[in-house]
Amino acid sequence: RVPTVGIDIGGTKVMAGVVDPDGAIVERLRTETPDKSKSPKVVEDVITELVLDLSDRHDVHAVGIGAAGWVDADRSRVLFAPHLAWRNEPLREALAARLVVPVLVDNDANAAAWGEWRFGAGRGEDHLVMITLGTGIGGAILEDGRVKRGRYGVAGEFGHMQVVPGGHRCPCGNRGCWEQYSSGNALVREARELAAADSPVAQRILEVVEGHIGDITGPMITTLAREGDPMCVELLEEMGRWLGVGLANLAAALDPSCFVIGGGVSEADDLLVRPAREAYRRQLTGRGYRPEARIVRAELGVDAGMVGAADMARLVARRFVRAN
Ligand code: BGC
Ligand code: NA
Ligand code: ZN
Repeated sequence: RVPTVGIDIGGTKVMAGVVDPDGAIVERLRTETPDKSKSPKVVEDVITELVLDLSDRHDVHAVGIGAAGWVDADRSRVLFAPHLAWRNEPLREALAARLVVPVLVDNDANAAAWGEWRFGAGRGEDHLVMITLGTGIGGAILEDGRVKRGRYGVAGEFGHMQVVPGGHRCPCGNRGCWEQYSSGNALVREARELAAADSPVAQRILEVVEGHIGDITGPMITTLAREGDPMCVELLEEMGRWLGVGLANLAAALDPSCFVIGGGVSEADDLLVRPAREAYRRQLTGRGYRPEARIVRAELGVDAGMVGAADMARLVARRFVRAN
């Protein structure tokens, strides 16, 4: 029963955890993601420190990394990352040189899909699509127990499908990407815009941040929405509607049985998922004449990527033990 470490590197935070073979988290650590302007080395330092810290108390056999970027088909390099400094970064090699255990690298949403399929809302699903709403939108296709990677490893980058021609600029270089309309960043951008315009609906959130618009965060918006603040409820509804539209498009392409929605924004639960289901039903091609995929929240919540990465690493650890 070897414990492994899973690390989820998102656009804003890094989560690391020791995970047992049943997917239970034994210990967890959390820190901020170094700013995009810092070199990839700084992110690697953070990962190394987290692993060494956990290794003090646990017998770590392998490390799985879920990275918010485009991981190549060998699961070795991060080709590109819209929200981080990685550009053709040999992440696995860099970390393997510093950590003494086997390292596995995968896309963060792929890892989350794996986590949900093994231990969460996706158990028993042969046609699962995972969507994570965090800084951006992460996506993954998991069919018959395998993550579909495409020829070059980059399948599932749904967040960068264009939904609005000429729309908001995206750090991937394009305009109008889906993640500019349904993600933590989109949510915060909209709230800040309303606050900056001194909109009457923004009064409550302006009070909370004492006028410091830059202090508005996603979790803050979710908390206020739960308390019934109309602006925050409306913003989450808007995110939900865009989510539903995108899911309907994905159903046209992939026809899954189940969409699992994870990432920080999914903590808003029904405030997000109900409008998403409604928009999905209004938008689905052939609606009324086809079976409809379930749309469910990630059971592991924001831990899905970390747990999934740890579990993926377990397979590598076994191979390593056998080879030595
Ligand atoms: C990136 C993906 C990542 C997602 C969620 C997107 O902007 O392109 O690779 O999975 O954000 O972190
Ligand atoms: Na992916
Ligand atoms: Zn984009």
